[in-house]
Amino acid sequence: MMKHLQTIHFKNNTVQGELKVPGDKSISHRAVMLGSIAEGKTTITGFLNGEDCLRTIENFKQLGVNIDNKGNTVEIHSPGVQNWTTPSEELYAGNSGTTARLMLGILASSNVEAVISGDESLSSRPMDRVTNPLREMGASIHSESGTDLLPLKITGTSLKAIDYENPVASAQVKSAILFAGLQAEGTTSVQEETVSRDHTEQMLRYFGADVRVSNGTASIRKGPKLQGQTVHVPGDISSAAFFIVAAGMTPGSSLTLTNVGLNPTRTGIIDVVKAMGVGVTISNESNENGEPVGTLVIHHQPLQGIEIGGDLIPRLIDELPIIALLATQAEGTTIIKDAAELRVKETDRIAAVTNELTKIGANIEATPDGMIIHGPTPLKGGTMDSYGDHRLGMMAGIASLIASEPITIQNPACIDISYPSFFEDLESVAQKS
Ligand code: S3P
Repeated sequence: MMKHLQTIHFKNNTVQGELKVPGDKSISHRAVMLGSIAEGKTTITGFLNGEDCLRTIENFKQLGVNIDNKGNTVEIHSPGVQNWTTPSEELYAGNSGTTARLMLGILASSNVEAVISGDESLSSRPMDRVTNPLREMGASIHSESGTDLLPLKITGTSLKAIDYENPVASAQVKSAILFAGLQAEGTTSVQEETVSRDHTEQMLRYFGADVRVSNGTASIRKGPKLQGQTVHVPGDISSAAFFIVAAGMTPGSSLTLTNVGLNPTRTGIIDVVKAMGVGVTISNESNENGEPVGTLVIHHQPLQGIEIGGDLIPRLIDELPIIALLATQAEGTTIIKDAAELRVKETDRIAAVTNELTKIGANIEATPDGMIIHGPTPLKGGTMDSYGDHRLGMMAGIASLIASEPITIQNPACIDISYPSFFEDLESVAQKS
């Protein structure tokens, strides 16, 4: 039975101990995608068993790929992209923008025809940012409603390479084009003014694709068939971010986070919390299949407000809700700008974060492309809506560490999208002081 409300209260706790957060969502999706495109056996360890990544697995099973998911280890036996079968049912992407947008790119040049659909939130999110460049490559994509929103029918066909200037700093758009380029005649390139997360480029290369990156342009040349690999997925820095902020804003806290992915296209959260005053040390640095990994130790220290914008935004786009909560505890003003993309995430995150933090006493205002937060403000308890958005639900959960009264989260089940063990982990590190 789905739980519709969850009430928590951790006032007078500090955040202590050690945590290993679940696997990276973006990397888990890509490991399943490349393991299914490649021929032969792929083994994935540290896989994120969250709702979004499970949708990606289900989609590929429907295409005839054999996938065995045992806890956090996934074994894939694929006949290779050339030998997929047309699914008898729609490919349902649920709430997952990454599944829907990357599948469009992958299916564009396949031998199959499929309809991609999603839940209510995903069905209102823009797909034309992907369908436009894919159609330039020759893709056959049909929107029954004429709107280019999901559901979309895609019929695999042969594609030609393009040189695309990506107007939005979006890894989902870049990835869809690179996946399509894997089988397009010629060299496909995507240029970005601000470089978005590069997990697709890293993993394509790891599986043997001919990918090059220079001066903000990623290019791919149709090349040899990809072969299955073993992929170790590091912990998700976007999930770690909730505990970085938890320890960073709660007086007396010190927390160790192990096995955190530290890809420089994702570490904007570390730059920001350090600039705001949080103590961060990094150790045990290593590399797993092209992805940097390390241990973080986070100490609470006095916080000050800062300005966050420009090239930093794509490096922390998913962390802005939890950064807004941190800013409520900082001395002075925090300005978040250049982040209009937040308005087309799982929910309008500018409106949602502003509404929910205002409810518990924050001094925060929405702007067209961000938020302005004046701090510090004591937070009171109350009911906070997740809007079915996992990152809003977790922001509310972390607020319970400093709120004077309990916090009740509406629709907390959405947290399973990226962090199924979130509440257990929060309980394990919240220590009565
Ligand atoms: C993702 C890219 C980002 C991010 C999303 C995951 C990915 O979206 O917000 O949670 O895995 O490529 P955009 O590409 O739309 O910025």
